[in-house]
Amino acid sequence: MTQQTVHTAGVVSRFAPYLAPLSLAVTLGLAAMPAAAQGAAGQAQAATESAGALGGPDGEQLYRQNCMACHMAQGEGAQGLGRFPALANNPALTAAGYPIFVVLNGLGGMPWFNGMLSDEEIAAVVSYVRTHFGNTYTDPVRPEDVAMMRGPVPTE
Ligand code: HEC
Repeated sequence: MTQQTVHTAGVVSRFAPYLAPLSLAVTLGLAAMPAAAQGAAGQAQAATESAGALGGPDGEQLYRQNCMACHMAQGEGAQGLGRFPALANNPALTAAGYPIFVVLNGLGGMPWFNGMLSDEEIAAVVSYVRTHFGNTYTDPVRPEDVAMMRGPVPTE
């Protein structure tokens, strides 16, 4: 077992109460997704296609297409009609498992990206936010780390 695996397994067990029910069902829930989320799926698809030409998903491009509207250009977040937390200088990104979990499953007002972004894309965008905006968490985030935490697409 690599160090990374142990580390991610720790995070998984921290979220075990959330993950356990998810592991029961297998579904491709596109039909159940809100219209806005389906729009995001289209964008994600476009990102996949253009990134393919470059040989791997581009974390910065994925951030701009999927995250920036809420978390803002420099990850500074926003306060207004909603509260969009800053990703800049955010110690919650210290362990990769947490942002992977949030991106896969959503959190509060944040939509989930399970069903829209691939393991490679989530690894790329999580790597991007962990190494930009004042964050210096350079341990690599691998697609396998995302795959380990991915359950069925949430339906509500
Ligand atoms: C529709 C708006 C929206 C989009 C799009 C969005 N987020 Fe969020 N995000 C939120 C909100 C709102 C929260 C706070 C949720 C809460 O705490 O209840 C959040 C929380 C987070 C957190 C947890 C921060 C913390 O301090 O605990 C991370 C990490 C995160 N988002 C990353 C991302 C990434 C990466 C993307 C793009 C793949 C993304 N978000 C896209 C709205 C959004």
